[in-house]
Amino acid sequence: MRQYIIAGNWKMHKDSTETRELCEAIRKGHTPDSRFELIVCPPFTSIPAAVESLSGTDIAVGGQNMCWESEGAFTGEVSASMLLTSGCKYVILGHSERRQYFSESDQLIGKKVQLALSSGLLPIVCVGEVIEDREAGRTEDVVGNQFDGIFADIDKTGFDKCVLAYEPVWAIGTGKTATPEMAEEVHKFIRGRIASKYGDESADKMRILYGGSMKPSNSTELLSQPDIDGGLIGGASLKAENFLGISSTVK
Ligand code: 13P
Repeated sequence: MRQYIIAGNWKMHKDSTETRELCEAIRKGHTPDSRFELIVCPPFTSIPAAVESLSGTDIAVGGQNMCWESEGAFTGEVSASMLLTSGCKYVILGHSERRQYFSESDQLIGKKVQLALSSGLLPIVCVGEVIEDREAGRTEDVVGNQFDGIFADIDKTGFDKCVLAYEPVWAIGTGKTATPEMAEEVHKFIRGRIASKYGDESADKMRILYGGSMKPSNSTELLSQPDIDGGLIGGASLKAENFLGISSTVK
């Protein structure tokens, strides 16, 4: 049985004060449950507040990005070890907003994944197609190429520590959710790709999260698909009742 992951990607929302309030509310409403792990990923400056507010709980904290180099003259960047020593367990890498606004390539994301792994952070690696690709029937080609590009130089031991997230770009922040069947089809495809590259054991163990307008009203169906092992949630993770509402639909 794969343990589900319900992760909140707060994006550029919540300063330190707001982070404390939200973490307090999540902490109060959450009962530890071996079926899933909760993760919150606040902006960099709010990570210490989240780590402090959630100390003593089983709720993990993650970063939303990190630099591809371990240290040096990279103005504005944050390193893997800075995230780790600030109390992060996870880091989201390759989010489509990083690809779109910061021109991140699969190769660069791959470098970040390697560095995260060698630093002791667990990467949550995102893939997903844009609407033009889906409409042209290229979803599997695009997602498959992203997977191959990112994991080109990553061995099985490293890969097994990762979490994957399928986030169709057209479903992010738009209110348009992929239907459970559409999402399941791609998740199944990704699991097949994992099996070809890393073997059945890795494929069976890998958690593949769905992201894109997930909310309590659609999470039951999405999370009941055989290859969907949790959610990477944007908008709905900014309110404790919605975030916990989603986790309560894990069966
Ligand atoms: P929304 O849940 O707001 O669509 O965002 C999804 C996402 O990008 C999570 O990383």
